[in-house]
Order: sequence, then structure tokens, then C-alpha cells
Amino acid sequence: MMEEIYYFEKPGKQNTEKTLELAVERALKRGIKHLVVASSTGETAKKALEVLEKRKAEINLVCVTYHTGFYKEGENSMSEEVEEFFRSKGVKIVRQSHALSGVERSFTRKFGGASRVEAVAEALRSLFGHGMKVCVEIAIMAADSGAIPIEEVVCVGGRSRGADTAAVIRPAHMNNFFDMEVREIICMPRFKR
Ligand SMILES: Cc1cc2nc3c(=O)[nH]c(=O)nc-3n(C[C@H](O)[C@H](O)[C@H](O)COP(=O)(O)O)c2cc1C
Repeated sequence: MMEEIYYFEKPGKQNTEKTLELAVERALKRGIKHLVVASSTGETAKKALEVLEKRKAEINLVCVTYHTGFYKEGENSMSEEVEEFFRSKGVKIVRQSHALSGVERSFTRKFGGASRVEAVAEALRSLFGHGMKVCVEIAIMAADSGAIPIEEVVCVGGRSRGADTAAVIRPAHMNNFFDMEVREIICMPRFKR
């Protein structure tokens, strides 16, 4: 099978629109029913919704956002209004502990070193870029919250803000991590740093 991969020169938010176009295009081509997008404020997920609506694509949109308290104790990264807007549009919001850091992040901060799961995260970031680490992580989070079934989905992630990476992924729950498969890379930055 021959398939195209789109390479961006550099990581970052400037690649968001193209990434979302390519992600939806591939989902439609493969008959994939779920699009999982990382979005801290909701901005990227809103853009994904626009692309889906423009293409009249019957694809479920799942927005995975930061856990409550990521920036500030007890506070969410997404406003109530944005969340309400997504609910009115049938977009599922996933907000839970991050799969590739978890409670281990507190141990690392307090005692130094790194846990196995943080080593996996860092390997993905270094080798494939932050966006690919995010794609893998949000696939687990969406599966663990029941927002997606365990079947091929398209995941979208980026570097801090926006999106620059998309992949077709067979997700897995956090207790079966090694059952996960990155089946197709749709786009990613050539230079990671
Ligand atoms: C669970 C989760 C983990 C993330 N981890 C990283 C990361 O390790 N590195 C990074 O550069 N961005 C990370 N992000 C940011 C996303 O890749 C994406 O760029 C951002 O959520 C888009 O938010 P926006 O729609 O507000 O621009 C993460 C986002 C989420 C929701």
C-alpha cells in the first residue's frame, strides 16, 4: 500500500489548518468514525469542527483537554462558554489524568529521575516530535474515558498550541499500552526542535 505523508518544515501552531484538513481527509478515505484532537483552550477543536462541518463529514469529534489544575489548582484550561458550545454541537470533551505522566510527575518533581512512562513520553517527543507523543497519549485518554471504541481513529496533536501532527491509531487502554498501534502517519514536522 502506498500512502502520502505531509512533512512540515518546523513544529508549531502555524500548521494547524493543514493538519486538520489532512486528518479529516484521511478519516473520510478510510471510513474512520472518530477524530480525537488535543485542545487546551478549545481553539484547535473548534477549527476541527469547522472542517468537519464544511466537509459534511459524519465523524465524531473528541476534544481531549488538560486535566483540571494543569496550570492552576482547581482551574480548567477551557472556559465554560467554550465547553457549553462543544456540548451543544455534540463534541465529546475528555478531561482526565494525563496517561503519559500521571502521578509519577509529582515523584519526578520531588525526587528527580523519571518514571518508565515519562521515559516513553520523552522518547516519543524526541524521536517523532511533541505532536506524536500527544497523539499516543490522547488515544489512551479518549479510550479510557469511553469516548472512543477500540478501533482505528485519527488523532491530532501539536507543539504547545495548535496542531502539527496527525496519525491513524489503533488505541488501547492504559492497562494494555502495548496493544496500541500507530498505523499511519498523516503529517508531522521534519525538524522536531
Ligand atoms: C493531554 C495533553 C497532553 C499534551 N502534551 C503536550 C506535550 O507533551 N508537548 C507539547 O508541546 N504539547 C502538549 N499538549 C498540547 C497539544 O499538543 C496541543 O498543541 C494543544 O492542546 C492545543 O491547544 P489549543 O487548541 O488551545 O491551541 C498536550 C495537550 C493535551 C491535551
